[in-house]
Amino acid sequence: MKYSKEIIEEVTVRNDIIEVIGQFVDLKKKGSNYFGLCPFHNEKAASFSVSPSKQMYYCFGCNTGGDVISFCMEYGKMSFTEALRMLAERAGVSLPEENGSPKAKKIRYKRNKLMEIIEEATKYYEYQLLTPGGEKGLAYLKDRNVSDEIMARFRLGFSNNLTRYLRTKGYSDALMIEAGIASHDEQHGTYDKFWNRVMFPIQDVNSKVVGFGGRAIGNGKPKYLNSPGTIVFDKGQNLFGLNYAKTTREGYIILCEGYMDVITMHQAGFDMAVASLGTAFTVQQAQLLKKYTDTVIIAYDSDDAGITATLRCIKMLKEVGVKCKVLDVHPYKDPDELIKNTGVGELQTRIQRAQNPFFFEIGIKEKEFDMSDPAEKTEFYRFVANKLCDFTEPLERGNYLEAVAKKYSIDEMGLRELVTHLDDEARCLVP
Ligand code: CTP
Ligand code: MN
Repeated sequence: MKYSKEIIEEVTVRNDIIEVIGQFVDLKKKGSNYFGLCPFHNEKAASFSVSPSKQMYYCFGCNTGGDVISFCMEYGKMSFTEALRMLAERAGVSLPEENGSPKAKKIRYKRNKLMEIIEEATKYYEYQLLTPGGEKGLAYLKDRNVSDEIMARFRLGFSNNLTRYLRTKGYSDALMIEAGIASHDEQHGTYDKFWNRVMFPIQDVNSKVVGFGGRAIGNGKPKYLNSPGTIVFDKGQNLFGLNYAKTTREGYIILCEGYMDVITMHQAGFDMAVASLGTAFTVQQAQLLKKYTDTVIIAYDSDDAGITATLRCIKMLKEVGVKCKVLDVHPYKDPDELIKNTGVGELQTRIQRAQNPFFFEIGIKEKEFDMSDPAEKTEFYRFVANKLCDFTEPLERGNYLEAVAKKYSIDEMGLRELVTHLDDEARCLVP
């Protein structure tokens, strides 16, 4: 949708650039301008300037500059429309509605209603966590060493009596069910879907809550209960923590399995961590990551399910053209336990040593073969040769061939011949 010059102007005027940028950059007044450390490049001296009279910013170090909208686009990694909407909401300016067809209007109305009730539920859960009724939840999180600051940042909460509360606010049971926060059956009527659980709100990239994960306290089953798919929530299209990770200053994103992995990582200062919510990683999630980074470090659980999921991730990321590496979590179960048992330094080292996906796949495969058996050994070499065929660029293929031959003590010439042979065969199969 194209917004008019007038409405863009109004949104810009109503959002003072000093106030908006001041939320993210520590600004100091010097003369008629404000200065701070540039959020777009690393620096020690403040060369980032903001002019209140011009309502513009400019960095003398990296030459980026613009107005309040371009700042939000750049800093928040948003599209023009997303930035405009965010600023309009901040200033209480109502934007003209898009596409006016009655059907589109109805869907938009429904979406807004669902987002509203979900936000209401989030606030209620957050509040519950801090009341006597939520003591169990708070004790659970404290026991897992989650800080107050991180609880607030991720808007963690505790669920009980939500439906009763929402009814007093005038919401219908039907809307609660549609939003995925209540269930219904003949015997019980409409009741809380999440009951007696620690709540992890799932925020979209613009920090709007779209769904929830609820963890049982102790050994209740299932361990996590998630919102069902709704018109505002599709599990395969979201990544937990991406709303924060998208603005990381690191050049990569770390992909974990679980809510708690992300929470612990962020608390330890690793603000580039996201989680794929325990589902099979989807191509949409890979595309979503591609919008914000060109390198993903996979840090899935170290068990068999985690390894299988890692192999799938490698494939998906390759499909969309995102580079990846694999972080070794052993001997721990997941990044949460790794950090708790070893600390920040060890995680940093493991990030630096994250393995190339090609060697990861070969390393996994190697375990399936008994190398003392010539037939199995040959089979393994064929697998390696086949993998090498995936590299179509001769230099790249050569480099990998050399490295893998060395690592597994394979005769390089022999391996080269095998690769050429397999490649020719494959070529013959392609008409
Ligand atoms: N998960 C889920 N439903 C389950 C179990 C797991 O949706 N019944 C998802 C959750 O997103 C969870 C992730 O899969 O965070 C990883 O699951 P798991 O490794 O079993 O749990 P942890 O993250 O280790 O959970 P915790 O540390 O709280 O025990
Ligand atoms: Mn865990």
